[in-house]
Amino acid sequence: MAELGVNIDHVATVRQARQTFEPDPVWAAALSELGGADCITLHLREDRRHIQERDLRILRQTVTVKLNLEMACDIQVLAIACEVKPDQVTLVPERREEVTTEGGLDIVAQREKAVEIIRRMEDAGISVSLFLDPDPRQLDVAATLKVAAVELHTGQYAMARRGRRQDEELEKLIQAGRFIRQAGMALHAGHGLTYHNVRPVATIEGMHELNIGHSIVSRALMVGFEEAVREMKRLVESP
Ligand code: PXP
Repeated sequence: MAELGVNIDHVATVRQARQTFEPDPVWAAALSELGGADCITLHLREDRRHIQERDLRILRQTVTVKLNLEMACDIQVLAIACEVKPDQVTLVPERREEVTTEGGLDIVAQREKAVEIIRRMEDAGISVSLFLDPDPRQLDVAATLKVAAVELHTGQYAMARRGRRQDEELEKLIQAGRFIRQAGMALHAGHGLTYHNVRPVATIEGMHELNIGHSIVSRALMVGFEEAVREMKRLVESP
């Protein structure tokens, strides 16, 4: 049964649109927990377009489930993470001009930098997950790094047309998931998952954690945060 990580970045996106104090992602995290979230996920981007350092620091004190910080291989954010100590860090690629994370980390190209960051995280007692495409070249390198988890990028699956194209993308995730578990790492997945497309990913064998943001925040506008999380939790956990 997969656990649900609720990504609350877009609550902060609405707040930053007015540079004000509401809505507060700290409230959204509390309501997510009430709705059954197993994990609260946030991305402290280098450009601070949504989540701020203040959010991370308060959430470290208020969140009672797992706290997962997404971050780029960036020295300044690394220092903040080592100080605040989220339970888990997920290393992601980051480009200033992108609307959202556009693909997995290129761990083949960034291996050296990642090794140093992973060592610093593990010294600080933080579990490390790598956000990767379901690409055997990337997964081979991840297996040599002995990280705790790999989060598979589900963006291609989510964008694919329903039918044969989407089935092909799902098959890549299934194969990659098998490799990740056989290499002794926990299997996570996320990006672009919605109430409509989450079930086949949630039921991949050994799926441990799903991180979902945009779709939950969108639904929360209509039905409230707690209810939106509860509905997603039902889809993720029922066999
Ligand atoms: N997982 C990772 C690593 C991400 O970067 C994001 C987006 O911030 C998500 C999951 C959530 O993606 P979405 O908002 O499309 O659900």
